[in-house]
Amino acid sequence: MYTFARFEQAIREALLATNLISAADIDLGAPKAAGVQADLALPCFRAAKSRGSNPAQVAQELVAALQFAPDSLVAIATISGPYVNFNLNPQAFAKAVLTDIQAGGATYGSSTKGNNRKVIVEYSSPNIAKRMHVGHIRSTIIGQAIANLYQRLGYEVIRDNHLGDYGKQFGVNIAATLRFGKPEGEGEAVLAAIEEQYKRYNLLMKGTVAEDTEYDPDSDAGLDDEARAWSLKLEQGDPQAVEIWQWMVDLTKTANQPNYDRLGVHFDLQHGESFYKDMLAEIISDAGESELAERDGNAIIVKDLPDHRGKKLPTFLIQRSDGGTLYMTRDIATIKYREQTYNPDAMIYIVGQPQELHFRQTFAISKALGYTDAELIHISFGTVFDAKGQPLSTRKGNMIYLETLLDEARNRAKALIEQKMAEGKTQLTAELIDQVAEQVGVGAVMYNDLYQDTKRNITVDWDRMLAFEGNSSPYLQYMHARCCSILRDFGELPTSYDGSLLSHPAETGLLKELARLPQIIDEAAARYAPFVVADWLYATARAFSAFYDACSVLKAETPELRIARGHVVAATAQALRNGLALLSIAAPERM
Ligand code: ARG
Repeated sequence: MYTFARFEQAIREALLATNLISAADIDLGAPKAAGVQADLALPCFRAAKSRGSNPAQVAQELVAALQFAPDSLVAIATISGPYVNFNLNPQAFAKAVLTDIQAGGATYGSSTKGNNRKVIVEYSSPNIAKRMHVGHIRSTIIGQAIANLYQRLGYEVIRDNHLGDYGKQFGVNIAATLRFGKPEGEGEAVLAAIEEQYKRYNLLMKGTVAEDTEYDPDSDAGLDDEARAWSLKLEQGDPQAVEIWQWMVDLTKTANQPNYDRLGVHFDLQHGESFYKDMLAEIISDAGESELAERDGNAIIVKDLPDHRGKKLPTFLIQRSDGGTLYMTRDIATIKYREQTYNPDAMIYIVGQPQELHFRQTFAISKALGYTDAELIHISFGTVFDAKGQPLSTRKGNMIYLETLLDEARNRAKALIEQKMAEGKTQLTAELIDQVAEQVGVGAVMYNDLYQDTKRNITVDWDRMLAFEGNSSPYLQYMHARCCSILRDFGELPTSYDGSLLSHPAETGLLKELARLPQIIDEAAARYAPFVVADWLYATARAFSAFYDACSVLKAETPELRIARGHVVAATAQALRNGLALLSIAAPERM
């Protein structure tokens, strides 16, 4: 149990020991009245009701009867009208928090509350034969943070990258590859070349662009039929079709991998949509035979299905009139498969806002068919705008792709570091400059996706993202690096110290922030909200800055205080590192 929880428990025990209040009437929370300097408050309304007395009277009786030992985490209880307020004992608190952090190290803040319950977190999910666009980037970064949070809470987390590797477009891709050849290269460039060939084939199909290859197609309609034929062949497992498709799958995965590595992202599963193709017939027959669906020729239609709030959903298809399946059909199969294979407690999808209706429909039909009892959660996110306030779009030509984005961030970070070097503000070896530039640049990109409510739209504003002040990742990394620099000046920090020397308000203020990390992880996971962690990191960095301004560390008044403060700095570095790790952001030791 962590310090704040023990503080609360100590209050609870002391309250029960008075024999004036029952456990059910103890409802501790943050003090509500303005100007009250307390760490926890007990409203006495319930207890008053049970005792047939009035709240202010009960508060007085309780405070008169409460007893705390001198080394208790609780210092004093005071009355404010119908409330009893409790304050931390700063000395005992300082010792306890530092002990928690030293004992926990890199796992400080984690717990086993999840009890190995299983959650599947599905994120990234880009499409094969295409570059990842900003939607996939947001999904990757937000999803990774949510998966980290659940892992720290002791859940068994299965990270799934649900690749878009199925559909009619692959007929066009195969036909285009046969017509124009396999493009060479790697990374985003080769994916861009495949996209280009896809576009070129499509234009040809529509007869908009003159043919400029040695091929001589019979007609535009011929191209259309050709693509359709390849799509069918692929579904039937034709070796040549499968070979080209597999080439595109491997190529895309290989091109995406360096970006995932740079973001520190990994997956347990990378089943694409095609993985579920053999289940589609059974989904269609289950749905078709149920009362939920109607047949109209070959089409299977679901009308008026209520969602989880009982609201009627717009009509949707499970099978097309030509007998083909849909994106939806594959998602239903995925849910059935996951239930049978993993029996998870929850499936969490991190996918952009435009697919909100799709998921309401998918979840409702999967539940109605009895495919799963897991909680199904769609975490949607807002759009990305450029610095001019325009939404990024492929059509408008202002789309940003992942590799380009990360390279740009690294280059800008490098320029900033070199500027600091020139100003004599930092000293790094050439090798370290590159490494730190990568960590700062990538961190800035990630933090930009995480620092506010995911539903809000975000802007790619380089100056704000890379600022060494304000709520940005470089600022947080810089505060961590400052802690490391102070610790280097200590050389060897003696392990034994007297935590009871730490009662300066700036010390207590910082330690209170450090003590909150376990609750922050709980709250962020419960709300699927990485910004809760970001807010905490920022508050902690500022509290550290206030502490450092108010309290000399290396030149403390006494040698004992110097060592105790050294331990505060070490604990701050550890907690910042743990918080940044939750967001998969690196914490360089020098900047
Ligand atoms: N590949 C899809 C796209 O790019 C996203 C997949 C989201 N996940 C899902 N289970 N449907 O739009």
